Amino acid sequence: MEFTTIKGFKDILPEDVETWQRLESEARRVFHSFGFKEIRPPLLERTELFSRGIGQETDIVSKEMYTLKDSKGRGLTLRPEATASVVRAYVQHRLYLKNPIQKLFTIGPMFRHERPQKGRFRQFHQINAEIFGDPGSRSDADIIIMAMFFLETIGLSGLGLHINSLGCHKCRDSFKKELKEYLIQKIHALCLDCQRRTETNPLRVFDCKVDTCKETVSGAPSILDYICEDCQEHFESVQSYLESSGIPFVLNHKLVRGLDYYTRTTFEIQTDRLGAQNAVTGGGRYDGLVKLLGGPDHPGTGFAMGIERLVALLDEDAEQEVRTPDLFVAALGDTAEKKAFNWVNDLRRTGIWVETEYSSKGLKAQMKRAGRLGARKVLIVGEDELASGKGILRDMEKKVQEEVELQNIVNNLKGILKESTG
Ligand code: HAM
Repeated sequence: MEFTTIKGFKDILPEDVETWQRLESEARRVFHSFGFKEIRPPLLERTELFSRGIGQETDIVSKEMYTLKDSKGRGLTLRPEATASVVRAYVQHRLYLKNPIQKLFTIGPMFRHERPQKGRFRQFHQINAEIFGDPGSRSDADIIIMAMFFLETIGLSGLGLHINSLGCHKCRDSFKKELKEYLIQKIHALCLDCQRRTETNPLRVFDCKVDTCKETVSGAPSILDYICEDCQEHFESVQSYLESSGIPFVLNHKLVRGLDYYTRTTFEIQTDRLGAQNAVTGGGRYDGLVKLLGGPDHPGTGFAMGIERLVALLDEDAEQEVRTPDLFVAALGDTAEKKAFNWVNDLRRTGIWVETEYSSKGLKAQMKRAGRLGARKVLIVGEDELASGKGILRDMEKKVQEEVELQNIVNNLKGILKESTG
């Protein structure tokens, strides 16, 4: 039997890992400058955390969760998103007692049993950021500005910011009523799921991917005509902060997002370069969620971005810079091999990337390997060099060689290699 990754799961191979690390460390750097601290919740949580937090009628909860039972028969679920887990941690550890405004981020894998396609996986990774404790428009604008700034920092441009307001629980209800009436008139054009959603949670019809449903909602009333004065003011204020920060956006009244916890501002940052999976970032405000999950009535706002989608866009944009070893040590004969073994590790401790052979090989084979690895320089040491106290240092690009003193070789090489890398 041949073992391969299961459908929708993928290995992140060594040649891609550097891009991932760069994204992760840039996220940490940018988010720290906005005052965010990292939190690392576990991957497995009680199923109810997600079903209650995200909403029973959402695709995520109704179809996509990886759920198992523990030995006592309780449901456990591999997190399909991070917000519910971060809220759970915020409540469980009473993080609000330490600071009335908590800004948290987390990076890691999420699991959704969706149909895999370009940009959509069953295990995918998110960079996720949340602000707790501020109900105002400035924190919404701040989190959007941070997302845009991060994307710009990593070299992604040409992305479109779409924003909407879903109103508060009060004004949303009047919109839901209106929407339901509209959908009932068109009920036969809707798929069976959406016929049910019309009754249970009509907003979710906006998420449906079935063509006739998409067509039907294209003529649906706009939530922006139904939100109350307070929500209107809040949303206008978010827009004015974005405008004054020079961030262009599109008002998109169909942007309801696939999770039930959102209130007021929602947003997505979209690309037209990844086919159907066009959202690189999704987020918004979720003022009732902390309370819904057993905590105090604290507001929240946040976003998550899919790392796979960011990497795909970066791959399209740029030639990857391939790192190669600074030095290859070609040792010949027992004594030289033993000495070289120690030099290699001493040099590595100074941060220089050094490669060598594990087994005894002739010079030709070692030079071939150094060439294949792309080593910039090769130190050649055999019995003769040991006897004369001078090794040969070959510059692989310039194809020239010079002698180096073996006495104090680690320091000598450190000087030469650091000088040549500038
Ligand atoms: P979401 O829209 O479900 O929101 O996911 C956020 C991002 O994760 C998407 O824009 C996309 O880039 C990526 N993503 C989602 N599903 C997949 C998948 N199957 N394969 C690859 N990438 C995927 C949330 O998860 C919310 N928790 C965001 C949030 C945080 N809202 C407030 N705070």
